[in-house]
Amino acid sequence: MYNSKIIGLGHFVPENVVTNEELSKLMDTNDAWIQERTGIKERRWVKDSGDTTSSMGVKAAKVAIERAGIDKDDIDFIIFATLSPDMYFPGPGVQVQEALNIKTVGALDIRNQCSGFVYAISVADNFIKTGMYKNILVIGSELHSHGLDKTTRGRGVSVIFGDGAGAAILSREEDNTKGILSTHLHSQGEHAEELVLVAPGMGKRWVNDILADNDPNDESYFPHMNGQFVFKNAVVRFSEVIMEGLQKNNLKPENIDMLIPHQANLRISQFIQKKFQLSDDQVFNNIQKYGNTTAASIPIALTEAWEQGKIKSGDTVVLAAFGSGFTWGSVIIKWQ
Ligand code: UT7
Repeated sequence: MYNSKIIGLGHFVPENVVTNEELSKLMDTNDAWIQERTGIKERRWVKDSGDTTSSMGVKAAKVAIERAGIDKDDIDFIIFATLSPDMYFPGPGVQVQEALNIKTVGALDIRNQCSGFVYAISVADNFIKTGMYKNILVIGSELHSHGLDKTTRGRGVSVIFGDGAGAAILSREEDNTKGILSTHLHSQGEHAEELVLVAPGMGKRWVNDILADNDPNDESYFPHMNGQFVFKNAVVRFSEVIMEGLQKNNLKPENIDMLIPHQANLRISQFIQKKFQLSDDQVFNNIQKYGNTTAASIPIALTEAWEQGKIKSGDTVVLAAFGSGFTWGSVIIKWQ
């Protein structure tokens, strides 16, 4: 058995900055409410650039490939995590294969929302562990802004989400004490509808139903979130899954050099930081600039932390996520 390690990271965010102040012109909201409840000051929303989930993922991937120092044809497999694919099917993994002009390797799409990148890393890690693949491109990318209800009706959700992409190259590591040490995945489908986008879906409400009803009050094709319920579950599950990962590796919270939590809400990150008595240097947050970019949030934050020199060789790095499904997970890394 091998280990896997991250040898290249990249991210891309659209140029267009949308401040809380700008949102208050679209809906009944204000900067104070958004900052106080979420920590978000601004987010990026695609405007005029024509960017999509797959194109942003490709841009992030190009940076990651270059930094990894590998050739695109060294990539053996592509994994793409998103909840906002360009098309209903096929998923964006194959679009990346085409756009990067990579030979006909396999491409897998992951549908685990905010936990998507953690799930994707776990899948990649296990493919590499068995020796099946050597280099895997993992992408998390989201284009939320096209699908949000930007009126007062949707304000509980639309002020939170932003667009962007992050990517990582995972590669074989012969030393089992280095790289990704373990990954931990969970789900609880009984809460599927607490954070959900129902339509269009083959099971519940397809396009025909939406068109037939032609109801201006139809909210089924906008995301719905039971915010307080999600919040309460998030703080519990984040804590549990971080501890699970630490215990598996005989580590304690004080051994964490860098925690990269999924950027759901600054208050959630601060709760975890306090609970584990971590210093500001041990937790990385950038939700203030980008909002919640779901599957893209961890790879964007991980890339920025690494670019800022906050992750060094030998560091214990912890990734943790919670979101729609509910799904949650963690990754424990000994940075090589
Ligand atoms: O990434 C996946 C996981 N996601 C999460 O973990 C998110 C978890 N949930 C949260 O982060 C928070 O619940 C929110 C940030 C979504 C909401 O914060 P909250 O403190 O739970 O607020 P609330 O939903 O209880 O709403 C409080 C009030 C309500 O008004 P009333 O009923 O008290 O009069 C809302 O209508 O705030 C109102 N409100 C707003 N006001 C101004 C809701 N959205 C807004 C808004 N601007 N954008």
